[in-house]
Amino acid sequence: MKVTAKAPANIAFIKYWGKTNEKLRLPENDSLAMTLDQTYTTTTVEFSDKLKQDRVFIDGSETTGEEKQRVVKQLNLIRPKASLGWLATVVSLNNFPKASGLASSASGLAALTIAASAAAGLKLNQKELGRLARLGSGSACRSIPGGYVYWQKGQSDQDSYAYTLYNADYWDLVDLTVVVTKEQKKISSTEGHSLTKTNPFSQARQEAVRDNLKEIKKAFKTKDFTLLGQVIESECLNLHSVMLTSKPALIYWESLTLEIIHKAIQWRQEGLESYFTIDAGPQVHLICQGKNSLGLKNKLKSVRGILDIITNRPSQGARIIDRHLF
Ligand code: DP6
Repeated sequence: MKVTAKAPANIAFIKYWGKTNEKLRLPENDSLAMTLDQTYTTTTVEFSDKLKQDRVFIDGSETTGEEKQRVVKQLNLIRPKASLGWLATVVSLNNFPKASGLASSASGLAALTIAASAAAGLKLNQKELGRLARLGSGSACRSIPGGYVYWQKGQSDQDSYAYTLYNADYWDLVDLTVVVTKEQKKISSTEGHSLTKTNPFSQARQEAVRDNLKEIKKAFKTKDFTLLGQVIESECLNLHSVMLTSKPALIYWESLTLEIIHKAIQWRQEGLESYFTIDAGPQVHLICQGKNSLGLKNKLKSVRGILDIITNRPSQGARIIDRHLF
């Protein structure tokens, strides 16, 4: 059977950085994210007894090496659950530049997990899919449910998964994703996570995360946008402080990244309220309320060098769709 799934990327307001168990991808801390309706991956999977090897096509070309291995590893988790020995053809399309810090592993592994498990004949619920996606890429478990999602770190494979904290229509927030470069990053987040082990500031980060989690839950409950924004920015800067002080140092920002940060602060002082957050890459996510998104987008258009601005609202969760890619 051929199955196609579509999964949104997600932007973390409270970040996942550091693992207590690398193999199971158990995170150091809980995280909270918004799923993104205009930044997604679509993946079609078909198992067959005619293939001599798994074949993986991403964004129009056949992949080999590490990229392919990550997909095959995920298929190898799924096949035994379905007692299936057949190999697979996987075709996947991102509607955004992959591996540039725009969460392609999150949406990619989420879409792959859903499509492959259904194509293998498994009937898994959302929690089981999330746990399975997490083994492929931690942040992928936050791309299974929709809306604003919460990943409880849990203590084992069983209880580390994400769920919808608030539905997509709970709060009219927009993430203007500002694409600064389309180049692939040199150090993957998987490598980055492992550097937290030797980072002297990791413990201080965990203390800050605990406070930020409390504050962000309050901000959501009362829909206090200013409080939300302050937490998001402080959390982002905290994460990047740890990245900058890792050995080797992880300097993900470009000069344009910093320019946009300064502009956002300036526009905010002038009355246009938005707050920045940045993952393991140079792209900037400006979080604003729906009523300000057009005004903010127009401001951004005046900044030279920006390659693209994607207007993302909270998405529905990952799902099976009818239109196959092959
Ligand atoms: C900075 O989920 O990509 O985006 O589990 O090793 O695949 P692996 O890491 P990944 O890490 C994402 C890190 C982050 C923060 C976040 O999304 O929470």
